[in-house]
This record gives sequence, structure tokens and C-alpha cells, in this order.
Amino acid sequence: MNVPPEVRIVEVGPRDGLQNESVHTSVQFRIELIKRLSNCGLSTIEVGSFVSPKWVPQMADTDQVLRYTQGCNDVQFIALVPNEIGMKAAVESNVDGIAIFTAASETFCKKNTNCTINESFERFKPVVKLAVENSIAVRGYVSCVLGCPYEGSVSVDKAVDVAKKLIDIGCYEVSLGDTIGVGTVNATRNLLQSALGEIDSGAIAVHFHDTYGQALPNIVTALDLGVSIIDSSVGGLGGCPYAKGASGNVATEDVVHMLNGMAVTTNVDLDKLVETSEFVFNYLGRSPSSRVATARLGQFN
Ligand code: HMG
Ligand code: MG
Repeated sequence: MNVPPEVRIVEVGPRDGLQNESVHTSVQFRIELIKRLSNCGLSTIEVGSFVSPKWVPQMADTDQVLRYTQGCNDVQFIALVPNEIGMKAAVESNVDGIAIFTAASETFCKKNTNCTINESFERFKPVVKLAVENSIAVRGYVSCVLGCPYEGSVSVDKAVDVAKKLIDIGCYEVSLGDTIGVGTVNATRNLLQSALGEIDSGAIAVHFHDTYGQALPNIVTALDLGVSIIDSSVGGLGGCPYAKGASGNVATEDVVHMLNGMAVTTNVDLDKLVETSEFVFNYLGRSPSSRVATARLGQFN
């Protein structure tokens, strides 16, 4: 197998993870979590979102979270932004980078952001303009690239077309999201082969939710095709409020453990990550979904 020597992990737990929790998480807890994740060696952390608090109340006060996580030069903190209102708040918060998000499925786009895919690109125009003016890097997400909770199957051409458009409007990388975790190895290979025909491998990230336990084999498939940016969340936190039944992201501990075994560099400290997972799930009052955290914490108790 031909795998990249180094992988960059994008930790999405504080955003994709906590946005889906029914337990209210305090600003203090969110700040402490982000500090601990930074300490693990994670170089990109998605810390929250500037979306409507009526739609996703869990991400309210992201501005306060960012206020206390500044000044850590080794870590890029990013936040999700859906429109110009969110972008103005992001600029005020001095965020390093933002992530804009749309979908490969019209119904999901509508349920998630109350607009069509084309309309989402209209919304991005003032967002990207403000980002350029303020030297803020822009990441892009395409949801439902391997299946939609409302429409079922999704066309590869549509997913790749939307991803390419995000790159064309100025995203430095685009994250291909298997929002409901229905992707398999063959479907992943098929999608990525097509995406790699249009987009440089260095600008493609993969974002697997682990609903059917296929995230790790799908990641291996992506690595084999030259992809070296992986989204994951500590302890396997997560889900999407507008994709019922979807489980959390692949757990960061599980990804790091697997990559360590493949001699792929991540610069992430697995011991500290497991401790961070324990910290999060103690707060939430349940066990991590991460297999590695479960095994390691069981061993040491
Ligand atoms: P809308 O209701 O159509 O917005 O929502 P609107 O423009 O009609 O405005 C309505 C009200 O919302 C107004 O306030 C606005 O000021 C306010 P009012 O006059 O009624 O008092 N408003 C805002 N407030 C705060 N921040 C904002 C904002 N924008 C408008 N940014 C909107 C449209 C996009 C805002 C809404 O649909 C929304 O916030 N959606 C976000 C949903 C979300 O966060 N989903 C989860 C993240 S996506 C995900 O998890 C997938 C991913 O992980 C990848 C994968 O797994 O596939 C990324
Ligand atoms: Mg997600």
C-alpha cells in the first residue's frame, strides 16, 4: 500500500461533536477541552460555529470560546460560518480560519441551512470577500457525499462538482463529508478517484462519521489514494442535528492509533488524547465511542 508519510488531523470534536450533545456544555468546559486538544499536538481544531443559536443552541457563545483560546501560535483555530452575519461575528472574534459548508444533496442543504445549494454559494460570496479582506483562511465542506438521510443515494458527479466549486471560489481545502456514515470502501474509492481527477490531493480532506463502523477502512482507502488530511473527533463525539441517526465522527484516538501502526506521522500524543477523551466523557457522563480509549482506559483502571 502507498500511504502518505504524514497526515494532518483536523480535530472537529468541539464543533461537530458538541453541536449534537443534549447536555449543555459550558463555555469554560469548551475552552478547557480546546486547550487540552492543543496540548495533544493537534494543529487544526474546529472550535465552534457562528450559526443561528435558534438552529444549533449548543454552539452559542463561540465568540467567548475563541476569546480564551487565542495566542497559541502553533494551532489553527477554525469556526464554521454559514453566511455574512456569521462571518462578521467570526471576524470580530479574530479566528484563524473559517469553514463554509454546503451539501451534495438539495434536501439536506435545505434542512441544514434553509437554502438550495446554489443559494448557499450566493451566501458564500460576501463571506469569502470578508475572509480575503481580513486574511482569514477558508475551508469548505460538502455534506452527504456518500449518501443523504432524505434522498438516499447521491451522485458522485454532483459531490465532486460542489467540491470543485468550493475550491474555485477560494477554499484552500475541501472536506468531503460522509455525514451519515453510510460509505463503504468501494464507494469511497469511486468518489475519491473522481474527486482526484478535478482537485489536487493536497486540497482534499475526508470526514467520515462512523455509523456503520466503516470509517477506518474508508480512511485507509483514502490514504492509499494519496489523501493526507483527515477530520476526526476526540472520543468519537458527534453527529449532525439535521441528520437523525447519524453517529459521531471517527474517533481521533482510533485514527492516531491506526496511523501509528502504519508508521504515518501525525505529531499527536496518543496518551494525552486518551486522557482528553476521558475528561470529555466524564463531563458528559457517558463512555467514549472510541475503541482505543475504551481499551486503554479499561486497562489502566
Ligand atoms: P434562516 O432562518 O434561514 O436565516 O437560517 P435568516 O437569514 O432568514 O435569518 C433569520 C434570523 O436568524 C435573523 O434573526 C437573523 O439575524 C438570524 P431575527 O431577525 O429573526 O432575530 N441569523 C443569525 N444569527 C446568528 N448567526 C448567524 C445568523 N444568520 C441568521 N449566522 C441559517 C439560515 C444558515 C442561519 C441557519 O439555517 C443555520 O444557522 N444553520 C446551521 C445549521 C448547522 O449548524 N448545522 C450543523 C453544521 S453542518 C454539519 O454538521 C456537517 C459537517 O460536519 C460535515 C458533514 O458531516 O457532512 C460540516
Ligand atoms: Mg460532520
